[in-house]
Amino acid sequence: MNQCIELMMREHELIVEVLASLQAMAEKLAAGSQMPRQDVADFGRFFRDFADKCHHGKEEDRLFVKMRQFGFPQDSGPVAVMLAEHDAGRQEVRGLLGIGAGAGPLNEAERERVIECASQLVPLLYGHIQKENNILYPMAQSAIPSAEMERLDESCEAFDEQIRGQLDVAGLKKLAAELMRRYPTDPAQLAVYGGCGACHSAA
Ligand SMILES: [Fe+2]
Ligand SMILES: [Fe+2]
Repeated sequence: MNQCIELMMREHELIVEVLASLQAMAEKLAAGSQMPRQDVADFGRFFRDFADKCHHGKEEDRLFVKMRQFGFPQDSGPVAVMLAEHDAGRQEVRGLLGIGAGAGPLNEAERERVIECASQLVPLLYGHIQKENNILYPMAQSAIPSAEMERLDESCEAFDEQIRGQLDVAGLKKLAAELMRRYPTDPAQLAVYGGCGACHSAA
């Protein structure tokens, strides 16, 4: 497996762990516990900056662009589905950030909105990651010649270097660990959202 694919699969692992923590927070809210508004802001920031800018950014700017050169259009087929799912996720993350930016304790409507955003985002991104791990990335590896995959490794490395100049990526990983400490849970519970019957046969 190429270095960039391996790295993106490791990023998926971290994203899944934080999705599980977000679900744990939403479950506590649904059970009537009050949660600090800052925690909602922190989840929003992790998904905006790490999952989206760092990870989806790399897929969209580097991997998907390379896939287009080898027969995967961006406006139909699997890449188009992935792009649409990135956009759908952004909408829910904006919802979390909007509430996180407010002041005072979360009111009833805001609590419900956080639960709603989490209930959309968690299965969406979890299912998305399963599709990429089990279908899209293997398809990319088999369609793109190995010399081109090596160029993609370099290009992804350059992307990460650029992102590290704009964002505190190490700080975002610490934020993820902190969120998992605040809302510990077992990410394996998310397997219920697999929803990808073709994944295993395609893998
Ligand atoms: Fe993606
Ligand atoms: Fe991904």
